[in-house]
Amino acid sequence: MEGEEQQAATQPKVGSLHSDAERYLEAYQVFLEKCESEEETTKRWLQEEGPGLVARCKVPAKTPFNVLGMGSGAGHFDALILHAALDKYDQVFCRVVEPREEDIDQFKNLVDEDERLKTVAFEWHQQTDEEYFEETFNDDTKFHIVHAIQLLYYVDDLAGCIKHMYRQVAEGGLLVIIHLSDQTGCSNLMKKMHKFVPDDGDEQTPYRTTAHIKEVLDKLQLQYTTDRLNVNTDITECFVPGSETGVLLLDFLTHTPHFTDTVDPGDQQEITDYIRGPDCSVERDGQILFNNSSEIIVIQKLGDASN
Ligand SMILES: C[S@@+](CC[C@H](N)C(=O)[O-])C[C@H]1O[C@@H](n2cnc3c(N)ncnc32)[C@H](O)[C@@H]1O
Repeated sequence: MEGEEQQAATQPKVGSLHSDAERYLEAYQVFLEKCESEEETTKRWLQEEGPGLVARCKVPAKTPFNVLGMGSGAGHFDALILHAALDKYDQVFCRVVEPREEDIDQFKNLVDEDERLKTVAFEWHQQTDEEYFEETFNDDTKFHIVHAIQLLYYVDDLAGCIKHMYRQVAEGGLLVIIHLSDQTGCSNLMKKMHKFVPDDGDEQTPYRTTAHIKEVLDKLQLQYTTDRLNVNTDITECFVPGSETGVLLLDFLTHTPHFTDTVDPGDQQEITDYIRGPDCSVERDGQILFNNSSEIIVIQKLGDASN
């Protein structure tokens, strides 16, 4: 192979950040730090609405309350749902599906430090969604809440994952999805990024919004309600020359490892101009604020025990 070809073959692809675990985590941490409010807004929503979600679930008497966390990460949001369940139920069971060992370890530490969470019966699955659904294909365990919080960008088969998650919801239970809204600067950027992703037959794309999820739900004829989490991210550093924080933020926004080193300079300019422009961001008090609001989709399983 010629030098240039070889380099092209080993260079990270646009849109492939999810395949580079170390860089992904680094970029995600920086992104979270810069999200004015994503964590807080999601936490507040779960604290306010979590008890209502638990109350909506129809659970037969003397049955433990079962929760399935898909792509739970370090479990900070899971903990809030579990606390709401513990307020109402004496026995809570929680199955966690998370492929990253470090995240599972952090989740376990969180449990160790929380007296109430220690009363939950946990089952840990260090697996991807596909590995987990294959393993549990003949498992009849049903869950009163199944949640996927900021996960569905990363699953290969979106429709398959939603179908399998719904299949594991108990009659009267809820499937709760939190995901980037289809009406944000971030979703505009995702649409824009499609043009730069190499067309090499790799179907997996992180550039997914709730529009894709709603399309699947409509096809499956599943009814849902939605709520919105308004979130802005301070991306000013992306435009400060030499800023390492800015470089990591750009990696996360474009979902491309080492974006500034690997993407053609002309394409970089087009993409960063777009990120800074009115389709994605506003400027306020000297800050560039990128809009990446999320939506919460709740599907209740009613009168359909066959699924
Ligand atoms: C953006 S993080 C969200 C973590 C957590 N739910 C939260 O909201 O803080 C996405 C999580 O999904 C996990 N993940 C990635 N691909 C996955 C897959 N195919 N199946 C299950 N989890 C996956 C990642 O390891 C990561 O912990």
